[in-house]
Amino acid sequence: MKNQIIIRGKRRLDGELHVTGAKNSVLPLIACCIMSEKEIHIHNCPSIADIFCMIEIIRSIGGYAVLEGDTLVIDCKNANPKLVTADLTSGIRSSVFILGPILARFRFADISYPGGCEIGLRPIDLHIYGLKCLGVKVTEVNGMIVCDGSEKTGGVVDLDFPSVGATENLMMAGVLGMGVTVIRNAAREPEIVDLQNFINYLGGKVSGAGTGVITVEGVASLHGGEYTPIGDRIAAATYLAAVGTAGGSARITGIDPEHMHAVLQKMRRAGCKIDEFADGVFIRVTDRLRAVHKIETQPFPGFPTDMQPQITAMLAAADGSSCIVENLFESRFKYTAQLIKMGARIIVKDRVAVVKGVNGLHGTQVLAEDLRGGAALVVAALGAEGETVIGGVQHIDRGYKNIEESFARLGADIVRV
Ligand code: EPZ
Repeated sequence: MKNQIIIRGKRRLDGELHVTGAKNSVLPLIACCIMSEKEIHIHNCPSIADIFCMIEIIRSIGGYAVLEGDTLVIDCKNANPKLVTADLTSGIRSSVFILGPILARFRFADISYPGGCEIGLRPIDLHIYGLKCLGVKVTEVNGMIVCDGSEKTGGVVDLDFPSVGATENLMMAGVLGMGVTVIRNAAREPEIVDLQNFINYLGGKVSGAGTGVITVEGVASLHGGEYTPIGDRIAAATYLAAVGTAGGSARITGIDPEHMHAVLQKMRRAGCKIDEFADGVFIRVTDRLRAVHKIETQPFPGFPTDMQPQITAMLAAADGSSCIVENLFESRFKYTAQLIKMGARIIVKDRVAVVKGVNGLHGTQVLAEDLRGGAALVVAALGAEGETVIGGVQHIDRGYKNIEESFARLGADIVRV
């Protein structure tokens, strides 16, 4: 398995990229298919590691799932929740939102505690609290979460925090059966709206996604069909940050600019010229970027935490000091140690990073330790003087398909070895 990328930086980028379907939309859509007994096709599906993990989960509970080109064919007619094993769901974070669909269709579900990951503990207390509000009996028995939904009635859930995963899980838990589920202080991400549209397309009754209050009316069953998810706003924004770092221009298509305004605003403040159109954005960067006084990550529509590492990498060589505040995860600045090896001047204290722009970074040996932190190293290397060797590329492959090919298409000197 090749898992190093070598980049010779300071080459201007120019060209066009079309983004695939959003990883963080396709993952819950796959889980949602568990509730239907008909065949479903999901188009524009990214062939990345996290998606393959979810395909494995569907197969391991007796479902059929095959990626044919970029169309995922799923049929959960023969799904059997008794087949959910501990090691299976502890492997990938997003497995936690198979809980809702399994409960909705089968009334009971046992899954293991999903693993934390490199950026934080990733608790699921809000998921469990919400299920209990809906009448599900939840017990935790040596690392397994045992849910009895035989008396699930629907109900009102007031989330302490607009958790994306908890919102998705609870939306799906209410789709089948009796009762109405209301989720207040729900997450508003575009991926939540995509999930609502998918559920309604399959015959469900969900409303309010994109606002803080989502209502789900239980129905008897879901049918099949085909669906194209929204484009990946984080992948698109990653490509924009790379152009910001290396200079040049690029047209990024397959994305709705409405899903990226917080990021576009900060990139414009840094000096990037960005035009928006129905199916994407065009970015042009001619001069050295300016620092951005402050960027604070927030739930949507605020600045997305999944772009925090990449924008920090872009600002490492900007003119002036920028302050980055990470409000969502407790340890999402690990990658800054690698940027400092490349010559960046960054001070991190708890959830705040102060980035003092330097004239330019220089290439060296660096290590990716998580998905978006790894993407930030690629962004930094594309603007750095000399050669950068990035190890741990398997982390980047979780969210970007052949990231080296995308940047090579924009003219970067980048190879995987
Ligand atoms: C989703 O994770 C995304 N993953 C993450 O993207 C993203 O960073 C995150 O939302 C925030 O936007 C997928 O969609 C597969 P949360 P999720 O529940 O659902 C706390 C990537 O790089 N929390 O909104 O796990 C939690 O600890 C990944 O693609 C609780 O306290 O995010 C965190 O501090 C990384 N209790 C905050 O909420 C809970 O029960 C946000 O978590 C649940 C969450």
